[in-house]
Parts: sequence; C-alpha cells; structure tokens
Amino acid sequence: MQQLENRDNESEYSLTPHVIRNDFPVFRQRIHGKPFIYLDNAASTQNPTSVIERVKKYYEEEHSNVHRGVHTLSQRATESFEKSREVVRSFLNAKSTKEIIFVRGTTEAINLVAKTYGKQILSAGDEILISGLEHHSNIVPWQILCNETGARLKVIPINKKGELILDELPKLLTNRTRLLAVVHISNALGTINPIEYLIKEAHKKGIPVLVDGAQSAPHIPIDVQKLDCDFFAFSGHKLYGPTGIGILYAKEHLLESMPPFQGGGDMIKSVTFEKTIYNDLPFKFEAGTPNVSGAIGLAEAINYITRIGMDTIAVFEKTLVHYATKRLLECNDVRIIGESKEKGGVISFLVGDVHPHDIGTILDEEGIAVRTGHHCAQPVMQFFGIPATARVSFGIYNTKEDVDHLIEGLKKIKKVFN
Ligand code: ALA
Repeated sequence: MQQLENRDNESEYSLTPHVIRNDFPVFRQRIHGKPFIYLDNAASTQNPTSVIERVKKYYEEEHSNVHRGVHTLSQRATESFEKSREVVRSFLNAKSTKEIIFVRGTTEAINLVAKTYGKQILSAGDEILISGLEHHSNIVPWQILCNETGARLKVIPINKKGELILDELPKLLTNRTRLLAVVHISNALGTINPIEYLIKEAHKKGIPVLVDGAQSAPHIPIDVQKLDCDFFAFSGHKLYGPTGIGILYAKEHLLESMPPFQGGGDMIKSVTFEKTIYNDLPFKFEAGTPNVSGAIGLAEAINYITRIGMDTIAVFEKTLVHYATKRLLECNDVRIIGESKEKGGVISFLVGDVHPHDIGTILDEEGIAVRTGHHCAQPVMQFFGIPATARVSFGIYNTKEDVDHLIEGLKKIKKVFN
C-alpha cells in the first residue's frame, strides 16, 4: 500500500509493470537461479505486500468471529468484514451489499446457484444453456442438476477460432431454457465473449443469465448493473488476493426467492426444533464462520487494483497480448489455439509436436511459470482434437521482457527436441 501511495503523483502511474512488480515480494526470489517470470495468472495471481500485510494485521489485531460477539475484537473483525463487502459492492457497482455473498470461489458460487436457484426452478424437460468454452466448474454443477431433475444441458457451439457461433443462439434459447450460464473470458483460450449481447438476447426471452467472471473481474472493468446480469461469480486468488475466498453477486429479488445453500450458524434469525426462520440477505447464504481474513484480503486486493484503474489494466494487458501473439507467431513451430478477435490476457499454444508438459518443464528450468494441460476445460481441448496446450496468462506485473524471455525459452525447447 505504502509503495502505491508514494507513486500517486507519478504521471505514468497508469501502469508501470517494472514498478508494480516491486510491490510483489514473490519476485524477490530466483527460480532455478533465474529471475522469476510468472505467466500463470489465469490459474492464480500473486499477492502484493499490501494484501499480505493487511491479512497479517487482521490476525495480529482483529481476529475473532464475526456477527457474534460484543467484545472489541469481534466488533473489529465484523466491521472489517462488512467494510470488505462494501468494497466488493462498489467494485462490481452492485446496488446493495445484500447482493454480495462471500463464498470460497467461483466454483462454489456456481454450485450455490445450481443447488438453490437451479433446483427450485428446474423440472424434467427444462433446459440449461452453457457454451462450448466453459470451465468444468460451469459444466459439472449443471450436469449434476440435470441428472437430479431430468433437465437437459445444451451448449452454444464454438468455431475454429474459439468464438461462440452466435447464429445458433436464437434456436438454443427456447421456451424451456431456464438459465444461460456462460463464461465472460475463456480461461483456456482467452476469448472474450460478447456478454452484453448474450445477456440481452436471453433477457428478451425472460431467461436469467449467470456470468462466470473468474477471468474477467481481475482484468477488465465490471459493472453488474450495466451488464444487467442476474448472477456474477469471481475468485479472490485470481485477483491478487487470498485463496479460499470469492464472490457471488446476484440480484436481490433472486436471492430473496432462493432457498438457503447450507444450514448452520449465522444464516438464521431463530431456530426451534419445529421451525427455523432464515436470516436477512446476504447472511442467509453464509452459513458458518466465513473466511474473514480472506474477505479482508480480497478487499485490499480490490483497493490495490482499483487504484491502478481497471480501464488502465485492460488496455495494458491487451497491449501485452498483442505483443506476445506477434512474438509467438514469429516462431516457426508455434501454433496458437484460440484466435478470437476479442481476446483477454490468455494465450494457449503448442510447439511442434512437443508435449505441453515438456514445454512447461523446460520453461520452469528457465524460471518461467506457465500452465500446461487441459486447463479444466476438456471439452475445449476435445473440440480442437488435442489433449492439452501450454498457456501463458498475464497480470499487471508482466513486461514485454517477460515475453522476450518466454520466446528465448521456446527456442531452447526446439533445440532440445531437434
Ligand atoms: N481455472 C484455473 C486455470 O485456468 C485453475 O488455470
């Protein structure tokens, strides 16, 4: 935090990754004797000092249970926890903190909607519509729900560029469709879906929309009122915050109509053996002791990135992706998987017929962290007829030099395999 405050007057405060990386202690170390280059931000981002310090301060000065005690620390913890909810509300521009539910992450947020809203509205023969770009966390909860209810899962297909085939949408949004659950930015390919269009088309037919924002909230500005989405989910650990904390945003009237997700402490107003009266929003959906330190850390991470500015971050990462794409395409053997016109900070690729795990291992020896595998999006891999890709994904501390090092690393791979 201190470092950021000191830079407030700098004209290039817009985004200077070389300076920003000084806020991230993880970059002080070397990996295999080399400077550490982290290109796995779609899996998890690193934490700035301000987040680490804030969590430390919580444990040193504020830790207690929330909403339960009259003693000083319980009040401090509660105040910090609820202030964090307001930070999230403002970040998403939600109408009310009643619409902000603390969960473990995007996966839990989607499961919550499936197990409460989904279960309540679905009957046999109804349909849930998802897309061919989904992460497993936006496929499997709906499959489980379909198995339980007799509903059917339908999929908006993708083309060879990794874009949704929008011409198919009108016939997929039927009078049996009960929900459109769709990813905003694909974690496997980087495709940015035309989310405003998808939401408008679904709403024209009265169909609510859940947006998986795991890869969008950390990288582009989000305004849930402007989007008019009904549900929006994201994770703290992909947004420079702690693991085990995430957010479900949902419109208040939907949350009011939904049954609770889990039963336990804090989600009740009163309990007798005969009857329980549930608590008001948002507490109705937060049974048990929440991840207080995680919520506080997430709020600090949001403060950190909003000081930089989400518009600034979006422009910066776009520039970096263009540069990386150009440099990768200069390498003879590199094939980029996913060539959507609109792309976020993710590039999936193959190098000749080298197995992606070998790419990842050799790059690691160069101090470069990339992800290899199916990226929890096996249907995307199946569509392209490949088992896996290597994937680089960018964050606010990445530089063009990081990309140059990556390209040098890829040259070494070619040498090893020739
Ligand atoms: N969903 C995370 C990724 O894309 C884990 O790597």
